[in-house]
Amino acid sequence: MNKILCITVITLSSVYLTTANINITSPPVTNWGVWGPFQKCGFGYVQGFQLKTEPYGGIFSDDTGLNAIKLFCGNPDSFGTPFITSTEGDWGSWGNVYSCYPGYLNGFQLRVEEYQGSSDDTATNNVRFFCTNLAGSNYIEGDGLGFGSWSQIQHCYSDQVICGLQTQMETYQGDDDDTAINNVLMECCDYTP
Ligand SMILES: *[C@@H]1O[C@H](CO)[C@@H](O)[C@H](O)[C@H]1NC(C)=O
Repeated sequence: MNKILCITVITLSSVYLTTANINITSPPVTNWGVWGPFQKCGFGYVQGFQLKTEPYGGIFSDDTGLNAIKLFCGNPDSFGTPFITSTEGDWGSWGNVYSCYPGYLNGFQLRVEEYQGSSDDTATNNVRFFCTNLAGSNYIEGDGLGFGSWSQIQHCYSDQVICGLQTQMETYQGDDDDTAINNVLMECCDYTP
């Protein structure tokens, strides 16, 4: 052939800054119980939450504080939105539903009571969540109890939102001190809303 047809395939190779999904968890303040099943949203990402809390029972009762976390994989105020919980503790009742919709949850902070020696332990008592549509360091605080103090903020990368949950739960201890939720792990999935 006399003619050489040069086909130049120009590959536009862009450089994408991709991150892999990560798990975020608080450094343990207390470390009782076992890690429950890791659950992940099958479709959608977390846009709301609800806490199950045992109300304070007075000085002679064995208090447990936070017993479960429900994360909604979509708008929590829409009927039938799926949710994930990992292990659900036996005590208390479900509180208010909190929503970041149309935003997404992208970080959390636990309120944990440190070891009380021979006194009643409760471990984790409340949770704050950070959302993609809240400015700066604003957060939504759940309706848990006030024991303990706020531990380190755990945040997803900026192009990620929460998509999975696992809780460390100390279940019924008979006559011994029960604490229910001790720690929490959340998976951050790549997603740019
Ligand atoms: C997060 O932890 C769970 C179990 O604890 C695991 O199944 C999952 O693969 C982890 N995800 C990442 C991104 O490491």
